[in-house]
Amino acid sequence: MKIAIMGAMVEEITPLLEKFGHYETTQFADNKFYTLKYKNINLTIAYSKIGKVNAALTAGILINRFGAQKLLFSGVAGAVDEALHIGDLIAASSLAQHDLDITVFGHPYGFVPESKVFIKSDEKLLKIAHETADALGLTLKEGVIATGDQFICDGAKKEWIKETFNASAIEMEGAAVAFVCEALRVPFFILRSISDAADAQAGFDFNEFLQSSSKISADFIAAMLDRMV
Ligand code: ADE
Repeated sequence: MKIAIMGAMVEEITPLLEKFGHYETTQFADNKFYTLKYKNINLTIAYSKIGKVNAALTAGILINRFGAQKLLFSGVAGAVDEALHIGDLIAASSLAQHDLDITVFGHPYGFVPESKVFIKSDEKLLKIAHETADALGLTLKEGVIATGDQFICDGAKKEWIKETFNASAIEMEGAAVAFVCEALRVPFFILRSISDAADAQAGFDFNEFLQSSSKISADFIAAMLDRMV
């Protein structure tokens, strides 16, 4: 079984590389890909760099060049749902692009012709995630994650995203990964731990909690992996 684990920033994958300890590094397309064997899994780990274009490129490479048959994403997000607090875990039930806008032609936000607004996460991976949470005694929330090429640090914008997409959290890569995986028929799972509330204080909170929330997410993904071997 070949599995890929992806993050957007180096902080998001470092806890995983530290946990596994040994890996080979391959340079490709201006990026680094870390491969290793874990039990019966051939694992490739990479961070894409921030944003939808980088995320789509990396997801495509993980699938087409490294042969990933499942893709797990680990990282941080801004909370949109007030019930989510710093360090909480949220799994995407589905994902949408909040900054995709051709509404002038009568389409809904997040939609382009021959595509759809929401892409659903793989049901089997979501089930494994909930079993993992139960086994660890952790709370794992599930909800819509909205993705865009903007760091949201504004209450009004956050409210708009919440109302338009019924979103629980926002970040900058998930939907790009989801669209690539759906098109290439690769089951995917997007996990985020909250680093900020996407409000006026978000820039400060993000810097403060990036490392700790990244570790919470990465530790959970590692535990999930143990249930997949
Ligand atoms: N990732 C973490 N926090 C975020 C925010 N407030 N906006 C976009 N992406 C994020």
